[in-house]
Amino acid sequence: MRSAELDEFVERVNERTDIYSVVSRYVTLTQKSGRYWGCCPFHNEKTASFSVSPDKGLFYCFGCGTGGNAFKFLSLIENITYFEAVKLQAQRLGIDLPERKSSPEEERRRREEKSLFKINELAQDFYHECLIKDAHGEIGRKYLEGRGITQETIETFKLGYATDDWENLLSNLTRRGFNPEQLEKVGLVAKRKTSSGYYDRFRGRVMIPINDAFGHTVGFGGRILKSEDENNPKYLNTPETVIFNKRNLLFGLDKSNKAISTAGAAIVVEGYMDAISLFSAGIKNVVATLGTAFTNEHVKLILKYARKIIFCYDSDEAGQRATLRALPIVQKAGAEVFIVKVPDGKDPDEFVRKHGKAAFDELIKNATTLIDYRMSYVLARADTSTTRGKVAALREILPVVVNINNTVTRNEYKKKIASALVLDEKITEDVWKKFSAKEQSQAADKSPPVIKKPRDNHKPTIQEACEIILRMLWYDDDVIDYIVTFPSELFSEVHREILGWFEICKNEGRRPNQMSASKELSETANAELSKILMNGSDDPRNDEIESFNDSVDIFRQAVLKKKYETLLAQADEYIASDKDTYNKKVQESLKVKWEMDGLRKN
Ligand code: UTP
Ligand code: MN
Repeated sequence: MRSAELDEFVERVNERTDIYSVVSRYVTLTQKSGRYWGCCPFHNEKTASFSVSPDKGLFYCFGCGTGGNAFKFLSLIENITYFEAVKLQAQRLGIDLPERKSSPEEERRRREEKSLFKINELAQDFYHECLIKDAHGEIGRKYLEGRGITQETIETFKLGYATDDWENLLSNLTRRGFNPEQLEKVGLVAKRKTSSGYYDRFRGRVMIPINDAFGHTVGFGGRILKSEDENNPKYLNTPETVIFNKRNLLFGLDKSNKAISTAGAAIVVEGYMDAISLFSAGIKNVVATLGTAFTNEHVKLILKYARKIIFCYDSDEAGQRATLRALPIVQKAGAEVFIVKVPDGKDPDEFVRKHGKAAFDELIKNATTLIDYRMSYVLARADTSTTRGKVAALREILPVVVNINNTVTRNEYKKKIASALVLDEKITEDVWKKFSAKEQSQAADKSPPVIKKPRDNHKPTIQEACEIILRMLWYDDDVIDYIVTFPSELFSEVHREILGWFEICKNEGRRPNQMSASKELSETANAELSKILMNGSDDPRNDEIESFNDSVDIFRQAVLKKKYETLLAQADEYIASDKDTYNKKVQESLKVKWEMDGLRKN
């Protein structure tokens, strides 16, 4: 698709898109004073500060500052790119996609990716054949059998075996026409250090192919069979490559996504062998991280299929710490979090092998809520020998408890904590009261702001003045040449970006609009612009003109004040040496002062 065609397509979809119907698919909205309100899907909140204006085609959350048009909303909630969101919306509206023709650069990248997938696929087949047929694969077969991995699971995950040779894969794939440089690009071989040539990265390991969400093989994990040592770690993963990035890969997702959707929950484990083992035991809504911390990208991947995330990390200290680190990331993204602590045996794999599927299902059913988990973690580590230690523990737990909506449940937790800590009830009540009061005043600060009517005797601050000016410029770019003469340090960085963009639009003879804003502005600037536009009336030229003039005055005032101060400072320098120059500077500064006073009287 050429760029003009693309614009035309996006415009066509945009024209027929109603932001209310787009958002209400995901968020319950209620109408209040000309716009719609609901709880923001992009952060955790109890009072609705997420608002949608169908007239303006915008959404904005006063709580977390996320905002934009319908496509922006779709791209965030579905975790897809902006253009994918346009396509999704087109699909929903039944608008046909024009034929897509990509740029030569895109074409080249896609071709490269495809050839890298192909190499990995061939390597996967090679390792797999080796495991199931080759005499050398015997040791791998025995190993997996010993771990209770069935033939079916070996097929499902296309598990394999890399023999203990230095050039087995290398010679096989080069014989089939690939060159070593290509193999190095996907991390299958590495350059020799002391001599020329390459060698196989994976040797003497059970091979676990790692796929992206679409099922392309992007890398491998290899489990050592001999005893591990410094040079031979238990698990070896593909290094970072063009197609392998651990931060946004979840092992197993290509196979478990349907089960995750059906169950409404994903079980997250630490190791791919845990995932394979659970899957093999019939627990199919499972994914594993690849030896990295749980990231925001990971949450987004899961949220495409389910809102509930159940962490089932190893029960050792490292696993529990990793769980604690993951929780805020998941909570912030708005997922429902549960935690399973594997009671007997170090990890989910060992547990399910020892106790079976039913026992694991039971664990999942009794998964701890975030609050209980936090509580038992703090309690287990609290110093309960002194009142001070107890109060410290109490303070650490309270933030989670205060967030419980249900009064009965909240009081139950209060009692539970007090009795667990053996704390005097009066002390508990005191700490609690102080904490809740603080919490409430903070919550009040965060409630959505009342939208200011123009001209209510409120003198805008520089920040507000700038918002009013930018809103005016959106509808009317006549004064932009004047506004840009103001010193740029008067504007915040994000406002400078928006202003600069208005200037570009004007110079290119086009009107700024939603589509170009979302394409050409940074994410922050885009959200800020949405907020600014949402805050005012539809066309401020009618009823905001006074506050616009006030705002411009505020800027002129600021410019003059600066000039005045500079002149005074300059005058000071001549006070002893040069009376004439001193007098001249003072005169100049007075003129500026009068100008300022004049402005104020208007
Ligand atoms: P674990 O050591 O907990 O592995 O590492 P495990 O799943 O219990 O393995 P088995 O049961 O002994 O075979 C968990 C994850 O950490 C990463 C891997 O992604 C592994 O799945 N890891 C671990 C490495 O990358 N390298 C290592 O040397 C060890
Ligand atoms: Mn294990």
